[in-house]
Amino acid sequence: MKKVQVVLGLNYGDEGKGKVSTFLAGNSDIALRCTGGNNAGHTVEFNGEKIVFHLIPSGILNNIDAVIGNGVVIDPKVLFEEIEVLSKHNVDLSKLHISTRAHLIFPYHIVEDKLQEMLKGDDKVGTTARGIGPCYMDKANRIGLRVIDMYSDDFERKLRRNIDNKNKVFQLFGLDKLDENKIVSDYLEYRDKMKPYVMDTVSFLHDAMDLEKSIICEGAQATMLDMDLGDYPMVTSSNPTIGGIQTGSGLGAGDITDIYGVCKAYASRVGEGPFITEQNNEIGDTIRELGHEYGATTKRPRRCGWIDLVALKYAVRVNGVTGLALNHLDTIGKLGKAKLCVGYKLNGKIYTEYSDDILGHESELELEYKELDTNFEIAGLRNYNVLPEEAKKYVEVIESHLGIPVKFIGTGPDNDDMIIR
Ligand code: IMP
Repeated sequence: MKKVQVVLGLNYGDEGKGKVSTFLAGNSDIALRCTGGNNAGHTVEFNGEKIVFHLIPSGILNNIDAVIGNGVVIDPKVLFEEIEVLSKHNVDLSKLHISTRAHLIFPYHIVEDKLQEMLKGDDKVGTTARGIGPCYMDKANRIGLRVIDMYSDDFERKLRRNIDNKNKVFQLFGLDKLDENKIVSDYLEYRDKMKPYVMDTVSFLHDAMDLEKSIICEGAQATMLDMDLGDYPMVTSSNPTIGGIQTGSGLGAGDITDIYGVCKAYASRVGEGPFITEQNNEIGDTIRELGHEYGATTKRPRRCGWIDLVALKYAVRVNGVTGLALNHLDTIGKLGKAKLCVGYKLNGKIYTEYSDDILGHESELELEYKELDTNFEIAGLRNYNVLPEEAKKYVEVIESHLGIPVKFIGTGPDNDDMIIR
């Protein structure tokens, strides 16, 4: 039956979207990435080895079509590293399809990313330094180069123009010039290697839907990192919310059948920016160790804190989430007690829903918490009915605050450690 299921992060990324996407890919015909680039990263166990995906939808491991949509920014070097790993595992790469319209990341974007961060000083975003922001900047500035542009006679001229202009700026800041000829020759090589995968993915997806095929859209990053709806300017440079799924793939709004929002039983963030329920203390350290909260892309220790139901309610609203995936319930069960943020108090007013009133006042908020006993061992359980009452209570409090059902519950690190309701 035709289905278009979307998996989105509701907080600051690293919610465990890959686990739910991998599960849903098992019953899908096509896995799709729509936004971001190799700033994302998720690790999947395959043939007893860990494979880290940054660009290619991990659904390809299920031997289904994998589409890199037009909204993704592609660093070809990273793409071919992933392709190489997958070939070693004998994954059928004829199922990989790359949008003609996807933009390319060039080495100058990476230099610009680092330079811009440096120039921001204390206001730095804490980016992944993968050139994502500068690539999207060039896209908006209409000097970006897309996959399709590589096959045009004008490609080399435009690429040399860009490198030359960027080099002039780098020199102003005392940085070394990039080697123009090396970049051009590398990308001409990538052009040839990429050719078998390139296609009009918008038509491919719509033709597939006409044939009643099912699509799983693997979201990247998360709602609070959305450049329009997140904690601007401490955001990524794309729209990881539901709108980005549409513009990044060409799917129509009415095509989408299910929107699953993913969060953890606690919260985490990498990079700078507000994190209202952060526990920059022993509790945060304990959560980090119990939940192994270190970045898959940059290995940075993640900032950790309590689940924030006020911010989550906002994320549910702006994405139109139809069902929740709650990861790391087993981790919260090891803490003995946990807090769930249910309200923010600012100037005497209580906010139970996220509001722009609080922007810029994050550090002044008094937080209202509900405390629950969480002393349970549920590692690897797969059946909701056998969960201890304390674990069920945790789930039910979240459901009642957010007004949506919890459909998936993570009970351990393995992909199979999941309850499906
Ligand atoms: P950028 O996407 O590299 O420009 O980084 C912008 C912000 O988004 C930084 O705070 C990053 O740490 C964060 N970020 C980007 N991608 C991810 C992700 O996949 N997971 C978590 N945080 C991310």
